[in-house]
Amino acid sequence: MTSALQDKVVVIAGATSSSGRTVARALVDAGARVVAVGHHQGRLDELEVDLPGVIGERADLTDGDDVLELAMRVHAKVGDVDGVVHLVGGWRGGGGIAGQTDEDYRVLERSFTALRYVSRVFWDDLVGSDAGRVAIVSSTTVEKPTAGGANYTAVKAASESWMRSLADGFSKSGSQGAAVTFRVKALDGLESRLADEVVALWAMDAAASDLNGRVTTLSA
Ligand SMILES: NC(=O)c1ccc[n+]([C@@H]2O[C@H](COP(=O)([O-])OP(=O)(O)OC[C@H]3O[C@@H](n4cnc5c(N)ncnc54)[C@H](OP(=O)(O)O)[C@@H]3O)[C@@H](O)[C@H]2O)c1
Repeated sequence: MTSALQDKVVVIAGATSSSGRTVARALVDAGARVVAVGHHQGRLDELEVDLPGVIGERADLTDGDDVLELAMRVHAKVGDVDGVVHLVGGWRGGGGIAGQTDEDYRVLERSFTALRYVSRVFWDDLVGSDAGRVAIVSSTTVEKPTAGGANYTAVKAASESWMRSLADGFSKSGSQGAAVTFRVKALDGLESRLADEVVALWAMDAAASDLNGRVTTLSA
């Protein structure tokens, strides 16, 4: 049976972690053309060896010029993009409100910066696709923030807000695009579930109008 993902181009932003690799493998198995983006060339090289067919692309996703150049390379190699799975994250916390340092915040906000850059640079592709999808992994703490995780949760809340704006952009454009947020408490052990959920974004019966703006909590 032909998969709805057959020959769809999906960019995984931050693909070399365990979750990124699991998502990449599931997308390739479903027939997608996967571009795996990371900052560390060695980890990308390993990923390309382990997952034949995946195209590794090195870029600093927090650098606007790097992201523009990445988009040019992706367009030249595989054409327009149908999906962006954003997995650049990181965790810093602790020390209550007084311990929410600027240094930690600057590190954490890179994830949000990368989300803005990547979704903007591929926006026209996603709107033009017959099944454009953007997905992020947020945190259950957005519902119930803690003092020690204030910086982290604020960045996740900003990312979720950005996703709601993308959802509005998709619906105003009249496209078949959908912006979807997954929330987890911890990803450990949930990588395969996340990968299944990402693949399901392109299921034949997954209507963009049902998916767009959806927030789904994944738990064990
Ligand atoms: N882990 C959890 O328990 C948990 C809990 C809640 C939410 N989440 C969220 O789930 C998502 C995935 O989490 P994870 O733990 O699997 O991943 P992660 O460890 O946050 O993965 C980071 C990925 O992003 C890449 N990356 C980091 N900075 C980059 C940059 N400037 N440019 C390009 N690539 C960059 C890393 O690649 P290189 O280092 O190889 O360059 C790596 O592939 C994240 O959004 C995270 O916040 C995770």
